Amino acid sequence: MKNHDSAFVGTSEPLLDLAALRADTPGCEEVIHFNNAGCGLMARPVLQAMLDHLRLEATIGGYEAAAARAAEVADFYASLAELLGTRPGNIAFAASATHAYTKALSAVDFRPGDVILTTRNDFISNQIAFLALRKRHGVRIVHAPDHPDGSGVDVDAMAALMRSHRPRLVAVTHVPTNSGLVQPVAEIGRHCRELDLLYLVDACQSVGQYPVDVEEIGCDLLTATCRKFLRGPRGSGFLYVSDRVLQAGCEPLYIDMHGARWVAPGYYRPVEGAARFEEWEFPYATVLGCAAATRYALRVGLEPVSRRTPALAGRLREQLAALAGVRTLDGGAAPAALVTFTIEGWEAAPFKAALDARRVNSALSYREFAQYDFADKDVEWCLRLSPHYYNTEDEVDAVVGAVAELARSAR
Ligand SMILES: Cc1ncc(COP(=O)(O)O)c(C=O)c1O
Repeated sequence: MKNHDSAFVGTSEPLLDLAALRADTPGCEEVIHFNNAGCGLMARPVLQAMLDHLRLEATIGGYEAAAARAAEVADFYASLAELLGTRPGNIAFAASATHAYTKALSAVDFRPGDVILTTRNDFISNQIAFLALRKRHGVRIVHAPDHPDGSGVDVDAMAALMRSHRPRLVAVTHVPTNSGLVQPVAEIGRHCRELDLLYLVDACQSVGQYPVDVEEIGCDLLTATCRKFLRGPRGSGFLYVSDRVLQAGCEPLYIDMHGARWVAPGYYRPVEGAARFEEWEFPYATVLGCAAATRYALRVGLEPVSRRTPALAGRLREQLAALAGVRTLDGGAAPAALVTFTIEGWEAAPFKAALDARRVNSALSYREFAQYDFADKDVEWCLRLSPHYYNTEDEVDAVVGAVAELARSAR
């Protein structure tokens, strides 16, 4: 059995020992995985934690296994609290980032005419949820304009909209799915705090890639998944809920026997912490995998990760931009590790299939994923490549070589 600590050089120094980190990642031997924005490759300790728990469930029973691993389950909350700069009681497990997001939305008592203030780059499923709220509750959706310099949302314009509309909710996606744009969530948060506005941040693509601190951002609610840059398992997500929101008595619309006590026939009382946003049934192996992934990220160190990962993507973006027939699409002064581009002479599916055939993992984004952003950029689809710290410069160069060859073959 491999030593789970092998990827760490035995000190608390934030060193990235790439060879060890790659040896700790079985997928590195199989593929060039540039789809971390879809789902990161799990490291061995994550896989092991999940397999061990499934075996334990099969051996002693599912409820009994959960009880036997109560301390490790508690570490899901403790590790995420450490990652986000909060307390364990402010974290709720969810089945996905979207599940966490809709639970959070369901806690807001929207009335007709209430405004949701958001951006033109907020995630597709969030936008659909806002439209569903408009259909059912008659809310108004206001999109803050982008800054003309292409750096993302215009914060001054957004702050002016906060003052004029007094939105019921301000909702911002930190890094969208459809480009490497990094939105200034902390700057927006300062305006929300000043004006006492409810602030929900979708940090799905930034958690695990950058240090994300909920106090620094000033958000009330924050959602993400564990499966992307945190390198946890699929079917996972979490919700951060601030003390302010908990103390105000906010609760999700549908609350179950885990989130509330049924204290009298006609009365229930929500539990104290963010657990009121959870449900009773848990995929415990997944929860333990998430805890292992979060601990792993903390030990690798978010500072070195946040330096290496976007830099690796920068190298990729720069080389791709130099290829004839390729147009890179990511805005902002310091984009995240989501590299998006179009290529002349190719349709979406065959282009991705050509990369699949070269064992390069990638993802497609379509107009539907980003109605505003792709309309502005005038593109119908793009390919997204998303490396992570455990990828190498050689892999970047190999992928650029593959794209160059495919670009040439189409000319
Ligand atoms: C920015 C962003 N938000 C939310 C999500 C949704 O995450 P999930 O699939 O876990 O619901 C994604 C997934 O790609 C995303 O990129």
